[in-house]
Amino acid sequence: MTLLNKVAIITGAGSGIGRATALKMASLGAKIVATDIHEANAQETISLILARGGEGVFAKCDVTQARDVEAMVGLALSAYGKLDIAVNNAGVGGVMANATDVDEAQWDLVMNVNLKGVWLCMKYEIPAMLNGIGGSIVNVSSLAGVLGFRMNAPYAASKHGVIGLTKSVALEYARKNIRVNAVCPGFTETPMVATLVEEAPKMEEFVMKSSPMRRLGSVEEIADAIIYLADDSASFVNGHALVLDGGASIQ
Ligand SMILES: NC(=O)c1ccc[n+]([C@@H]2O[C@H](COP(=O)([O-])OP(=O)(O)OC[C@H]3O[C@@H](n4cnc5c(N)ncnc54)[C@H](O)[C@@H]3O)[C@@H](O)[C@H]2O)c1
Repeated sequence: MTLLNKVAIITGAGSGIGRATALKMASLGAKIVATDIHEANAQETISLILARGGEGVFAKCDVTQARDVEAMVGLALSAYGKLDIAVNNAGVGGVMANATDVDEAQWDLVMNVNLKGVWLCMKYEIPAMLNGIGGSIVNVSSLAGVLGFRMNAPYAASKHGVIGLTKSVALEYARKNIRVNAVCPGFTETPMVATLVEEAPKMEEFVMKSSPMRRLGSVEEIADAIIYLADDSASFVNGHALVLDGGASIQ
């Protein structure tokens, strides 16, 4: 597989799944626009890419802010003249609490980053793709986008929302050469899960027991699936939510 000369935006590229996807796409020849709310982390991702002979630029982008998102797409166009691929990956886990104990600010944060952020990104990415020959978008949902999760209702609601958004936008642009898909990772070894386990130590046991393979996913395994959906190898896959959970959801 090659992504030679493809231009790819990745949000939340300063850590975890976003960084792994950026590194892998760059190694396949894509030019990367790596953004994150933590600018220094996005910069570090690009330093890693450049050190390995790849190409890319970074920017601070808070996906909840239209101005940042517009500037992110503007950067892809000014640096590389087009946009082929967008991975809308930025996300937050939110608090672990019963739905009735979640306060409004906590609800708003999770919905704004995980759901509104994905919509805002597509709002600006799609016109840029339409100005070219089309493109491919991969939104990062979650296993919590297809199953309910006790003690994390806002997160599950936001990730279910990402799938509804993905399917709807996929229908709207299917005849304009833009495909929109989602990945739904199960528990994956990233700082987000490390924080979860730190805050709720019993989570580790739950995570291991819920996995038929008795292990977490790796960021590389999720990146491979994102790249498959982003690439022309998946040219007839549209509006799909691909679950990557080692079989956790089939029990
Ligand atoms: N790790 C898992 O088990 C898992 C499982 C399913 C889905 N996911 C999803 O995968 C995506 C990546 O998560 P991860 O596990 O790599 O976590 P992570 O915490 O390592 O990375 C998330 C990145 O998003 C960035 N971010 C947070 N808020 C932002 C904002 N407002 N604007 C821009 N960037 C922002 C963070 O700075 C961070 O770099 C998230 O959408 C997450 O919900 C993760």
